[in-house]
Amino acid sequence: MENTNFVKISHNELDTQNIARAYADDLHNGDIVLLYGCLGAGKTAFVKGIAKQKKATEATSPTFTIINEYEGIEPIYHMDLYRIEKASDLFETGFEEYLNSDGIALIEWPDIAMPILKNYDYKTVRINKINDCEREIIFNSSRRKGI
Ligand SMILES: Nc1ncnc2c1ncn2[C@@H]1O[C@H](COP(=O)(O)OP(=O)(O)O)[C@@H](O)[C@H]1O
Ligand SMILES: [Mg+2]
Repeated sequence: MENTNFVKISHNELDTQNIARAYADDLHNGDIVLLYGCLGAGKTAFVKGIAKQKKATEATSPTFTIINEYEGIEPIYHMDLYRIEKASDLFETGFEEYLNSDGIALIEWPDIAMPILKNYDYKTVRINKINDCEREIIFNSSRRKGI
């Protein structure tokens, strides 16, 4: 198991977007990123930064659509699973087809999908609210080797 971990501090939303833009340069087709953090932490702001860096159409909150697709340098699949009640409901959204197609999957509230995601390599980004405007952003990447 290879692991890379690092932490960044963000002082405002633009900061978070810029941290996300730098991170986006290492994201490519097939990558899956799980975004953790409470409501208002900045998960969608982080996705906006990635979308900008990938020259994709403006990212908006997918709360009512579960999955939004943005065309960019690589396609971006932005998912918000907050409203999904059980893993089996993910079938209707074509969730696993997105994971297996060319593109970068960015998943807010991924817990419900762990029975599926455990079969994939993924990176995690955890955003902790320090106060109204400060955020601690913790990056983790692990890759199962030879499986
Ligand atoms: N450092 C920061 N990073 C990201 N968002 C911030 C920051 N400081 C304040 N905010 C505000 O917090 C909110 C984050 O919203 P959003 O990205 O939709 O969160 P989430 O998707 O995690 O629910 C926005 O209103 C944004 O302006
Ligand atoms: Mg959000």
